[in-house]
Amino acid sequence: MTTITPADVCYQQCISPACGTTYSVDQALVACRDCGGLLDVRYDWDRLPVPGSLAEIEKKWARRDLPHCASGVWRFHDLLPFAPVDQCVTVGEGQTLLHASDAVGRYVGMKPGRLLLEYEGMNPSGSFKDNGMAAAFTHARTVGATRAACASTGNTSASLALYCSVTGLMKAVIFVGSGKIAFGKLSQALDYGALTVQIAGDFDDAMARVQEVSAQLGIYLVNSVNPFRLEGQKTIMFRVLEALRWEVPDWIVVPGGNLGNSSAFGKAFFELRELGLIDRMPRLAVVNASGADTLYELYERRGLRWNRGKPDAAAIDAYSREMDETGRRASTIASAIEINRPVNLTKCLRALEWMGGAVRHASDQDILDAKAQVGAGGMGCEPASAASVAGAKQLVSEGVISPDERVVCILTGHQLKDPKATMAYHSTDQQHFNEVLGSRGVRRAEFANRAVAVANDRDEIIKAIRLYS
Ligand code: F0G
Repeated sequence: MTTITPADVCYQQCISPACGTTYSVDQALVACRDCGGLLDVRYDWDRLPVPGSLAEIEKKWARRDLPHCASGVWRFHDLLPFAPVDQCVTVGEGQTLLHASDAVGRYVGMKPGRLLLEYEGMNPSGSFKDNGMAAAFTHARTVGATRAACASTGNTSASLALYCSVTGLMKAVIFVGSGKIAFGKLSQALDYGALTVQIAGDFDDAMARVQEVSAQLGIYLVNSVNPFRLEGQKTIMFRVLEALRWEVPDWIVVPGGNLGNSSAFGKAFFELRELGLIDRMPRLAVVNASGADTLYELYERRGLRWNRGKPDAAAIDAYSREMDETGRRASTIASAIEINRPVNLTKCLRALEWMGGAVRHASDQDILDAKAQVGAGGMGCEPASAASVAGAKQLVSEGVISPDERVVCILTGHQLKDPKATMAYHSTDQQHFNEVLGSRGVRRAEFANRAVAVANDRDEIIKAIRLYS
């Protein structure tokens, strides 16, 4: 009897239908060598033991004493079988929660029970990145990498640093823009022992440099141009479905930065439908910050589309040139998505095509108001994550999302990642508020919960509690 290995049934392929060059699963690539396009991980599903129904995956819970059954990524190994199970790296990622929040739903304009928040802040490093890192890290290990690198607005680097420190399998090298990442995230990378390279530039600069340098030094790159990263991020959607008893929601709303998540979500649903495991696709809304809205500008204003695999490259180049000529740099309080040159742009266009997509942008004011609402009526999140809620609110007010549809907003990162923005929003000190937020056009903190200053005196304290509670 011959055993099937991943290399027999899994390969990489350029996403451009006009090119379609394939590569073996054991190559570490971040672009097609023939045309420079992005790559997909593809499977020969006919030769793989795919579950007959998604519900079958629940049986794995009976074996949750095994790390790969307990992992919220590897529980779905049948749907991302690019490495043998015993090689799959886990640090306990994907123990996340989908919860209905009527309070946030009211703010967004939804009927009770219709707005759900997928809280990815519960991952070991506090963001959704761990889903992708478990997969990319696994691939890195199977190809024998000893160093792994990324450019980051903070969360990818925190995640990579954590996987390196917990497993001891690799050394992390991270590239960050100078002064560009929230303290919570930078402190993680430093604490977990990553070699932290602060570039005098922003994320877009760091992203360009890390690709050059890692190619030259043979360091494994774990940014979302790595197709294996996105395999792990598909499982966010599998867990959403699992929590909904395998019913497909009407909308998935996700913040857009480098556009890895949106690309992964499109692939997740496309494959599930291809396999006959779901009968319809949800719609996808991607939400940029207004100060970093390349996707919005290209998709909604200039009509850029996937166009059967031939998106208008001249339009993309022209926009890129315009940014250079006008010296436009991304700028938003949602530092995680402060990105002007999203590396997964074309893959995201494909996802938008598959899922009947919409793109919106949200101002820093709307993002912070939405964040305060999530904090008060949910589990809290970092600014970038709240773009999903702000975007859902816009789409409801425009009548694109109906109040009785079922909407899932992805809360991508933990509330504690960026305390500076949160503290400034709730601050009693107007000067501090203006310093941190005023320059970003944030004028009001309508949902601020301000601390009450009281003398160290029992009666005064009691008076204050009576007054304010
Ligand atoms: N939300 C958070 C909290 C993020 O950290 C990121 C991306 C996004 C949303 C956007 O996701 O890139 O898949 O569209 N952070 C990256 C980083 C860029 O380096 O941590 P995307």
